[in-house]
Amino acid sequence: MKKKILVTCAFPYSNGDIHLGHILEHIYADIWVRYQKLIGNKIYFICADDSHGTAVLLKSININIDPNLMINNILLDHKNDFLKFNIFHDYYYKTHSKYNYIFLRNIIDKCFVKNIIYNKNILQYYDNKKNIFLPDRYIIGTCPKCLSKKQYGDNCVICGSIYNTLDLINPISLVSKNKPVLKYSNHLFLNLNIFKQKIINWINSINLQENVFNQLLSWLKNDLIDWNISRDSPYFGFKIPSKFIKDKYFYVWFDALLGYISTFYKFCKINNNFLFDKFWFNDSNYELYHFIGKDILYFHGILWPAILDILNFRKPTNIIVHGHVLINNYKMSKSYENFISVKKWLKYYDSDSLRYYFASLLSNNINDINLCLIEFVNKINSDIVNKFINICSRISRFLEIYFNNILSNKLWNENFYNLFVQKFDIICYYYLNFNYYKVIIEINILLDLVNKCITDNKPWLWTNNFKKLRNLHIFCTTIINIFKLISIYLMPIIPNIIKKIEFFLNTKLNWKNFDKPLLNHKILKYENIYNRIKLYNF
Ligand code: MSP
Ligand code: ZN
Repeated sequence: MKKKILVTCAFPYSNGDIHLGHILEHIYADIWVRYQKLIGNKIYFICADDSHGTAVLLKSININIDPNLMINNILLDHKNDFLKFNIFHDYYYKTHSKYNYIFLRNIIDKCFVKNIIYNKNILQYYDNKKNIFLPDRYIIGTCPKCLSKKQYGDNCVICGSIYNTLDLINPISLVSKNKPVLKYSNHLFLNLNIFKQKIINWINSINLQENVFNQLLSWLKNDLIDWNISRDSPYFGFKIPSKFIKDKYFYVWFDALLGYISTFYKFCKINNNFLFDKFWFNDSNYELYHFIGKDILYFHGILWPAILDILNFRKPTNIIVHGHVLINNYKMSKSYENFISVKKWLKYYDSDSLRYYFASLLSNNINDINLCLIEFVNKINSDIVNKFINICSRISRFLEIYFNNILSNKLWNENFYNLFVQKFDIICYYYLNFNYYKVIIEINILLDLVNKCITDNKPWLWTNNFKKLRNLHIFCTTIINIFKLISIYLMPIIPNIIKKIEFFLNTKLNWKNFDKPLLNHKILKYENIYNRIKLYNF
């Protein structure tokens, strides 16, 4: 039975360029999506821009553009950047949409009916200079648990604890760099503890990564802090209807998560498909996977299942979490000046090289991913140029000169060819389990094997007599077919290079009939497929 699967990536904020952190996440998901398509499952891959919040508002003030206009411009730009990496979403939307608002009203009404939401007057940090209440991400200070410096207002990245902003030691406003003052304000809170047991049951019923499971469990062992889902003006977001509370907005994360639902809703609507209910209703046997970075696990592992529960919707099949991109071992950040946007990357390198390099580091765990530029250049030149593409340039010469680019009618050594065919199952298994680095290891073993075979057999010595020429023909045909097999194994990872290979081989690569060799087939004259890359100083 073919599966039906919905895949999402976390929604990038509408306040800046798509950068290599976003790209890592989308490559992580896209490779899996491509693999699932190749094996014949029906898969929908959606994403959206996260339109709301203080950061978006401050950016629009900074550049002096109406936020509505700004988020639409940024949306086009984001879509474009993803396309440049061959990341094709079935639908890419935004959270500032009519549909998202409909789901938001729906859930808020349900919260009131179920009596799980309440008003409370709370003290909050306020920036007197800029006249703005400060969201947690705009305050830094010392973690009250482990005393690490420069931690955000809501959680500590060093010890992982989640705390009340008022407990942060020596808070500083990031907007004005001043010490913020405390001010009272009325807010809407969602009671989270009533969902605790259901969330525990859910995490026990699915196959989470080990660290992810442990982290969620450690949060769930304690009482869950009630969730403040409102924010003060000025804010860019959906206004809370005044029958509930005066002059407040919904917190960006509350409607952002709902965006998974409304984006798919919009997709179904414009495509006239009736899958929406089948995917989201409780007990759906369609699958739902969210790819996210480890910094937003609390939102997806605790708040999201609570939201779904209120709506009486199904829970995710799994949440696939990755670590952060480091650049030469440093956290990528605008303030370190090592921040690499898609636009900057593509000025120096192509997209497949990064897709390959990230794949070689991606596994089913949450370790950080270090982009070491020297290692990157060496890996691409060694694996893709010297070992992989070089197979064609070594072999195609003979086919062109002696055989008019026509492959022979049989293989040279079936057993040798079968060594490569036999790797199919293990490679599928690694793709399925998000262990792409193991795919790359297997492929490199195969590449070494085929290159050694060429070197050992010295086919260049076979051109001087008729019998040897026949051997040369079937030998080259076999090597080209092994090259084709390895290309098939790499299909989810390097789509641009694959297109060029398909052109050269004069055929579409076929996952289903992967082991069927090309025989009596005319290939094209070999033209350069991929060039060596150089080290640049970004
Ligand atoms: N808008 C929220 C997500 C809402 S989902 C309903 C958000 N946006 S983000 O732009 O900050 O991050 C989007 C995704 O990119 C997150 O999964 C985040 O972990 C990931 N990354 C952002 N920077 C990253 C790195 N430097 N490295 C790897 N991924 C990181 O969070
Ligand atoms: Zn800490």
